[in-house]
Amino acid sequence: MYRYAQKLHHLLWSLLLVSLITATSAQAAEQIDLIIDTDPGADDVVALLFALASPQELNIRALTTVAGNVRLDKTSRNARLAREWAGREDVPVYAGAPKPLMRTPIYAEDIHGKEGLSGVTVHEPKKGLAEGNAVNYLIDTLKTAKPHSITIAILGPQTNLALALIQEPEIVQGIKEVVVMGGAHFNGGNITPVAEFNLFADPQAAEVVLKSGVKLTYLPLDVTHKILTSEACLKQIAALNNNASKLVGGILNEYVKGDMEHYGLSGGPVHDATVIAYLLKPELFTGRSVNVVVDSREGPTFGQTIVDWHDGLKAPKNAFWVESGDAQGFFDLLTQRLARLK
Ligand code: RIB
Ligand code: CA
Repeated sequence: MYRYAQKLHHLLWSLLLVSLITATSAQAAEQIDLIIDTDPGADDVVALLFALASPQELNIRALTTVAGNVRLDKTSRNARLAREWAGREDVPVYAGAPKPLMRTPIYAEDIHGKEGLSGVTVHEPKKGLAEGNAVNYLIDTLKTAKPHSITIAILGPQTNLALALIQEPEIVQGIKEVVVMGGAHFNGGNITPVAEFNLFADPQAAEVVLKSGVKLTYLPLDVTHKILTSEACLKQIAALNNNASKLVGGILNEYVKGDMEHYGLSGGPVHDATVIAYLLKPELFTGRSVNVVVDSREGPTFGQTIVDWHDGLKAPKNAFWVESGDAQGFFDLLTQRLARLK
């Protein structure tokens, strides 16, 4: 009898050990090694709070900043602000390119405000920038990373990664995937009738990234304009009644006004946060692999993403193009993660 009990004890301990190892390795397997490149920017800050509140799935190596919505000094300050608000000063912030590869810089202060973050009061964050430029950080990190191990989320113009690829093309070895908020096909543009802001702000950079051959996913206006704020979802976020929800509420109430007016919509898109939701829960989204070409010629189609959705040209499929998403699922996930913050 004693031997039987001993065997059972041993079996139970082994089962417990196996289930613990499986759970840990499953969680570790799911964790994404991530660099977020960003031009905060109202929706960028929402995306950063979202990502920084999700450490189980996202091992954020660094935030790298670029000029875009506003000038580099303000996008870099706002990235440090988001980091401070999320209580994640463990994540370094590297400042990158102050201007696009070739075109004259454009900004979106009319949408994001002079400070790049309307709807909330900004201040000088306690923790400063990391030493060194974001482009050199990308080169050093990607050159020495394990093969295809690092995901890069780009929430603004693609200038930093393009500069790194031009200087050191072999950094592609370290890149697992690049997930970009940008472009437009079915939806039409938001800065010209055909161009979306991030692409319009630096189309040459987007061409460099496209031609590098990295695994590339686009979340364009086609999907971000289907995931719109609503009274109900803003109430859902406000009901959290923590600092993060008050910040996001203040930011979104101000930020979405422009799009709601321009498009006559009952709510506005939270463009960049869809990239984080895609990384956390890709099943919320649908799309297909397509051939994409960026138009960088001066003229009415400058910055346009030309998407061969029906594969008429039989050209190589160089990007996964997300064209739809579950709005309620997105806001439920965003709310759930904001609840984790102070
Ligand atoms: O067109 C929307 C994109 O342009 C977003 O990334 C927003 O932050 C602006 O950069
Ligand atoms: Ca942005």
